[in-house]
Amino acid sequence: MAEVRRVGMLTGGGDAPGLNGVIRAVTVKCIEDYGYEVVGIKRGWKGLLAPEEDSVQKLTVDDVRYILDEGGTVLLSSRTNPYKKEGDAEKVVKNMQEFGIDALVAIGGDDTLGVASRLHKDFGVQVVGCPKTIDNDLSGTDTCFGYDTAVSIATEALDRIRTTARSHERILVVEIMGRHAGWITYGAGLAGAANVTLIPEVEPDLDAIADLFKKRAERGERWGVVAVSEGVTIGEEYITQTAERDEFGHVRLGGIAETLANELKERTGIDTRHVVLGHLQRGGTPTAYDRILSTRYGIRAAEAVKNGEWGKMVALRGSDIVTVSLEEATGETRTVPEDLYDVLKTFFG
Ligand code: F6P
Repeated sequence: MAEVRRVGMLTGGGDAPGLNGVIRAVTVKCIEDYGYEVVGIKRGWKGLLAPEEDSVQKLTVDDVRYILDEGGTVLLSSRTNPYKKEGDAEKVVKNMQEFGIDALVAIGGDDTLGVASRLHKDFGVQVVGCPKTIDNDLSGTDTCFGYDTAVSIATEALDRIRTTARSHERILVVEIMGRHAGWITYGAGLAGAANVTLIPEVEPDLDAIADLFKKRAERGERWGVVAVSEGVTIGEEYITQTAERDEFGHVRLGGIAETLANELKERTGIDTRHVVLGHLQRGGTPTAYDRILSTRYGIRAAEAVKNGEWGKMVALRGSDIVTVSLEEATGETRTVPEDLYDVLKTFFG
């Protein structure tokens, strides 16, 4: 193992509340306990692929002391993929060497950590990963930081929507983020007592949903709340906002709530509207749970650097923070299992 003196840290992909908690913990632990120098790399992999003047900056304990409660990421983020174009991964490795970065803490979801895993495998990059995503869809860990905050925001939104839906005797369809995994919608639908919750893992039955709302109307409740995940499909195709794809090949989802609202209005005759929560779910201050989890992840990531646990990701297993292989963690999207969805179905109606 090459000796570590300077540790780089980057955040990639969609931001998530808690990123600054990890940055703070890694910085403090690495400097105070291990005497490393820490540098922040701006804009994810872009900061190493196409560095600008501000791309690599020294982080001190004073820089991070008060950022635990701040949303977003002080290191900025991007969806840059160094494996999209031939030769770019080599550039990242070369720039790491030029900046004197001996070890890297990569904080991200499956895309960012997938790149970290490949850089380790292909070039022996000394990297440790940390699982971030509001979508909560990384394998190898019980939960990702950012998820708890997103679920709390979506739950509060459902609580608020319910009172106006009832007052105006409307069905309100609420579109929730999560791409191809329904974790946020599942959690918010349960905690926010939606009348129907739809996740990408299960194909919706529009007739059954319309019947449910007709029955509610028959017993005097001409209103209701539907929580729907942005990745739910009616038929084969995802509903998208543009034809564009990002560098990792992801489409920009959005529009299922509107489509569903129109379908339900037609089938039930009840006034039906829709709301898209969008980036509200990602912004703002993290919950106490995410502040604690991100701090524990950051401390363990610094320890992993000290131990030379390269190619590993910090993970929550039960109440312990452990390390797992990055390859394992990024191999497969973790989706909502059927038995959990069944729990939710008990409360449909
Ligand atoms: O991965 C997190 C996430 O918020 C998804 O839930 C969502 O589909 C996507 O990012 C949106 O990404 P962007 O902000 O780049 O459009």
